[in-house]
Amino acid sequence: TRFLNSLAELDDSVPASHRVQDRTKPAEPMPTDSFKNAADTDPAIAANRAWGDGILSRIASSQLGNETVAQHTITTEAQLEQVFATANGPGASWRQKSAAERAEILHRAGEVLEARRAELMEVAASETGKTLDQSDPEVTEAIDFAHYYAEQAKKLERISGASFVPAGLTVVTPPWNFPVAIPAGSTLAALAAGSPVIIKPAAQARRCGAVMVEALWEAGVPRDVLQLVNMGDRALGSKLVSDPRVDRVILTGGYETAELFRSLRNDLPLLAETSGKNAIIVTPSADLDLAAKDVIYSAFGHAGQKCSAASLVILVGSVATSQRFRNQLLDGVASLKVGYPQDATTQMGPIIEPAKGKLLSALTSVGMGEKWLVEPKQLDDSGKLWSPGVRDGVKPGSEYHLTEYFGPVLGIMTAKTLGEAIDMVNAIDYGLTSGLHSLNSDEIGLWLENIQAGNLYVNRGTTGAIVQRQPFGGWKKSAVGAGTKAGGPNYLMGLGNWEIAPTQD
Ligand code: SER
Repeated sequence: TRFLNSLAELDDSVPASHRVQDRTKPAEPMPTDSFKNAADTDPAIAANRAWGDGILSRIASSQLGNETVAQHTITTEAQLEQVFATANGPGASWRQKSAAERAEILHRAGEVLEARRAELMEVAASETGKTLDQSDPEVTEAIDFAHYYAEQAKKLERISGASFVPAGLTVVTPPWNFPVAIPAGSTLAALAAGSPVIIKPAAQARRCGAVMVEALWEAGVPRDVLQLVNMGDRALGSKLVSDPRVDRVILTGGYETAELFRSLRNDLPLLAETSGKNAIIVTPSADLDLAAKDVIYSAFGHAGQKCSAASLVILVGSVATSQRFRNQLLDGVASLKVGYPQDATTQMGPIIEPAKGKLLSALTSVGMGEKWLVEPKQLDDSGKLWSPGVRDGVKPGSEYHLTEYFGPVLGIMTAKTLGEAIDMVNAIDYGLTSGLHSLNSDEIGLWLENIQAGNLYVNRGTTGAIVQRQPFGGWKKSAVGAGTKAGGPNYLMGLGNWEIAPTQD
């Protein structure tokens, strides 16, 4: 049996409006007084496949962003001082703009990001190995953030009896795994809230960050309001995030990075979306075909390198004791075509750097009582190309159960009851996304009531939150100082303060 044709095909969780665009025609303008999600590229349209082939042909030789990275690399403390002086000098003028003025520029940013979709996908593939089926929805998300936060900024200004005061200088430190959407989302939110931004893209995704920032500059965000910095030097990076003139730091990264940031300055105003170790529970009432498809996409999309990825599937009752679901997983996983993004037939791309440390050990060894259902293989000398792995027999409290690996490996756990499965999820320190496959409303109710995670998905995969529909953010060790969700109605609130307006007699 062969269950999968392409990862892109699997993701039917996105609304239909997300998959209709013909990329060879100019994009329809977005409304500027309400919010509508942008559309992903539909690979079923022949013209879109030709458009994608054009991107594929440029990946290997892509130089996009290089020049901007070089221009914005700083090496001395004096240069960093200049960046701060600019942000708090001319950059601070941004707060004088009305929300409507900022929103106009942000809506334009959405249009420019759409116009540069192919470039953003090219640079993401070239720099981070991201396949087009993964980077296309990422660009869509960046566009959504622009239009959504533009409208949210206007709403904040309309709240009567109080005025929203921008936090002030905001430093954005995004990750490499969503090298477009997360840098864009964090930056656009801070800009929407009225603050100047300094962004330092992840070292592995500098060119992506540069191309994203170029798009925002092109849309009219002044260069002193949004400054791009790269630095090879860790000490300089530490100074950037811990400087007392910084009013907010928006970090998306590992929990350890958040702890490191906090150790640099104990009153650091940090909003951090951190690690995840996410599970999908499958009960006997589930549609097992759908569950297998969603588990595979959630575990192996972008080679498992998402904080939202499913790293565990917990089989309940007869799903655990029979081989049927395991066989479905095995067939689907074994059929995934692993390769580089230049090859249009690739379904799972490389990992960001040669596997090492705990990921290498998760790809090459199993714990006590565990065995491979599908054994991962290193496919070339780069150390980056691995076939996906599925380990069976993961025990509660084991290393695999509790550790985030951020790679193409999935573990199977078994539980007698749904309650036991929920306990296994809640025993994990993190609480970012969580999935349930069940067609029984009592089970869904029990799970919703008890599961400890920020984003809960029933009969859907755990990745690919959509702006406005599924605001994104975790709890427990998946969030530090946050509490509001990206792409949701409260996110901008965390990026400023309220002043109660004096009452008028
Ligand atoms: N927002 C992404 C997702 O939902 C993760 O950062 O997959």
